[in-house]
Amino acid sequence: MNRFGLTGRTALVTGAARGLGRAFATALAEAGADLVLTDLPGAEGLTETAELVRGLGRRALVAEQDLSRTRELPDFADRLRERAGPLHILVNNAGTAALERFNEITPDSWYRVMRVNLDAVFFLTQRVAEHMIADGLPGRIVNVTSKNALVAEAGLAHYNASKAAVDLLTQTLAVELAPHGVTVNSLAPGMVETPIDSEFPFDRDAFEAAYRDRIPLGRYARPEECTGALLLLAGDEGAYLTGTRIVVDGGVLADQMPRTAFMPPYVSSLRPRPKDGTTP
Ligand SMILES: NC(=O)c1ccc[n+]([C@@H]2O[C@H](COP(=O)([O-])OP(=O)(O)OC[C@H]3O[C@@H](n4cnc5c(N)ncnc54)[C@H](O)[C@@H]3O)[C@@H](O)[C@H]2O)c1
Repeated sequence: MNRFGLTGRTALVTGAARGLGRAFATALAEAGADLVLTDLPGAEGLTETAELVRGLGRRALVAEQDLSRTRELPDFADRLRERAGPLHILVNNAGTAALERFNEITPDSWYRVMRVNLDAVFFLTQRVAEHMIADGLPGRIVNVTSKNALVAEAGLAHYNASKAAVDLLTQTLAVELAPHGVTVNSLAPGMVETPIDSEFPFDRDAFEAAYRDRIPLGRYARPEECTGALLLLAGDEGAYLTGTRIVVDGGVLADQMPRTAFMPPYVSSLRPRPKDGTTP
């Protein structure tokens, strides 16, 4: 496991107060990295994430910032570097979504999603990458996108478009930063158990039950199940990975049609595993 170790590195994780961001922060700390954690001013949970990191024996610097205020991001990145020292790893994880029919998306809603999911990723990365180059670091940038960057989902026109845009931004920056030894990749989760959709106007439990049937592994991911891909992209073992993506979706994108329910019954001793992730 030393090959995946991150001792001596510092990682900035955005959206670190909860959900995937917290899981990414604690996994990076377990691998030996010190953390800079950011989220919205007053975000509940940011302090708790910092305590989890410190409980693992790593340093955690907390810096609140509304990332949608993109003009502030260069100064924000400069201040982080002054306070935390060189940043080796940037995890652009913060994201937001709204469930709205295409004709009901207002300019305010469209730009809110775009500013957080796309604009902030670009302008924060722009300055942090400059620092990585100036500091001569083998930098690692990981953009958290979504399977929705690759296939559409109704009601999420702004979200889908923002994630697809980040995918191409990832490729572009990977090419521009390769000569400087900085890699840029995306990590595309499928459905993960987090509160990101807690304010969607829908029956969450009914949706999850229906969606589970579309997932070959039969369940949503726990946030911790996305961290292995991050550790690969963030460390020395990921040195030759750039401009690509790792999809962590339980097989959703591999399956064009959920036919398994319409297959002939099992006649052999073959039996499916329970869909809760346990071993039979
Ligand atoms: N949960 C899923 O099923 C899923 C699937 C695919 C991709 N993703 C992506 O994973 C990332 C993390 O999502 P999550 O599911 O953990 O969601 P989440 O809502 O639990 O966490 C997102 C975090 O981002 C922060 N954030 C939002 N707007 C911000 C802003 N303007 N400035 C600073 N911080 C802000 C939030 O406060 C929150 O702590 C997102 O980019 C999301 O699009 C999630």
